[in-house]
Amino acid sequence: MAYLRLLFFLILAFIPESLGFNVLMISIGAAGHVVPMFELAKGMKNHHVTFITESYAQSYINFTSYPNLSSFRLIYSNDSTDAFIDQKKKEKEIVEYFINHSLFDSLAYMIPRLGISISTLMNKTVHLLMVEQFDVIIGSSVIFGINALCKEAKASCVIQIAEQQLDLFNFNQPNSFSLLSSTQLTELKYRVYNVAFALRTIVYVFKQLIAIFYTIFQSFPRVPGPFYETFTLKNRLFTKSKCLQLFNLPPTLYSPSSSHHWTKYLGAFVDESSIDNTDNDLTKWIKSKPLNSVVYVAFGSTGIIELDRMKNLIKGLAAFLLQTDTASVLLAFSNINYAQYQTVLNEMTNNEYRRVLLNNQRVKVEPGFVQ
Ligand SMILES: *[C@@H]1O[C@H](CO)[C@@H](O)[C@H](O)[C@H]1NC(C)=O
Ligand SMILES: *[C@@H]1O[C@H](CO)[C@@H](O)[C@H](O)[C@H]1NC(C)=O
Ligand SMILES: *[C@@H]1O[C@H](CO)[C@@H](O)[C@H](O)[C@H]1NC(C)=O
Ligand SMILES: *[C@@H]1O[C@H](CO)[C@@H](O)[C@H](O)[C@H]1NC(C)=O
Ligand SMILES: *[C@@H]1O[C@H](CO)[C@@H](O)[C@H](O)[C@H]1NC(C)=O
Repeated sequence: MAYLRLLFFLILAFIPESLGFNVLMISIGAAGHVVPMFELAKGMKNHHVTFITESYAQSYINFTSYPNLSSFRLIYSNDSTDAFIDQKKKEKEIVEYFINHSLFDSLAYMIPRLGISISTLMNKTVHLLMVEQFDVIIGSSVIFGINALCKEAKASCVIQIAEQQLDLFNFNQPNSFSLLSSTQLTELKYRVYNVAFALRTIVYVFKQLIAIFYTIFQSFPRVPGPFYETFTLKNRLFTKSKCLQLFNLPPTLYSPSSSHHWTKYLGAFVDESSIDNTDNDLTKWIKSKPLNSVVYVAFGSTGIIELDRMKNLIKGLAAFLLQTDTASVLLAFSNINYAQYQTVLNEMTNNEYRRVLLNNQRVKVEPGFVQ
């Protein structure tokens, strides 16, 4: 496996420009999807990369800070100047919905909206594919129908998987939401719990899922021309094409349910270059710390940490900092997590904990996305 991974990177990084692939990358604009996709693009030296995404991706990536590629072309699914503002607004609405609703209600709210984004991306992609040939198409995992698209475009297919997959039906894996570990599943009582948990979840979401998928299947573009039939329900469900699946999440956090040889763990993508040339409050703070001494804590755009969990987290961090003089912590809190943190801090009665948490040389709190 290690050998294959190495080979993959060698192919990506070192082949001469004349042999470079024409690569098409497609991602929605959400941070967790577009950031790893862009980092993958930056690794593809000597290839020609065309990158299609939504314009609000600009709020997470500085695209003018170039990937050093032989050629890089950026295309937004909607060039209208209002599109950025509208997409940001839509993103904010979705995150706010997550705050006040259960995960599954939130998914039911989000997925049809995601469907519209994907449809706009696919429309742009299909128009491009009608005039240009690509060797490889790399889609982020939420772009349903990538395999049908690749088959029609006669391109190799790669799916880049940044997020945890909702695999409700594999009882041998811990249900994503059950908080069980793979080790626990070796015990009978946890296995029983896992099956019960999964069944309850399936019953709960079944009705919603049908409505959601109906909406998504309706929303795909039927662009007149060679791709007119590509996104029919039949094609999207039954197109058999081999897609290389690249996982970002380490197997220790999430073990892919199907570990056949088309599934590879590619690792997280970290931008290692940008901080040297950036001087702001945060980068100055980081640069003042010894190498490997900063613990970085983030919960994504939609993750909500309940108050009691926040209390435990913060207490644990404070205890850790008191035991470990050389360490400091960078906390990135999106949405209401920032307010939850403030609440916990204000109610903290342990003065030693309070002091270390309020020491801004030891703890830096960022209310939002951190590059
Ligand atoms: C984006 O990157 C370019 C080139 O590195 C730099 O000049 C510019 O200031 C950056 N923009 C932002 C908003 O950071
Ligand atoms: C880009 O890559 C070329 C060749 O790999 C290298 O010579 C050049 O210094 C790189 N430029 C930057 C800005 O990293
Ligand atoms: C592009 O964005 C604008 C502003 O949000 C919107 O009015 C327009 O309908 C969008 N176009 C497409 C093709 O989605
Ligand atoms: C979510 O609920 C809180 C109180 O429970 C309320 O203040 C807030 O306005 C609600 N937000 C949305 C987007 O409904
Ligand atoms: C689809 O793409 C074409 C060409 O980019 C554009 O003219 C058209 O407005 C788009 N339609 C939709 C529904 O996004």
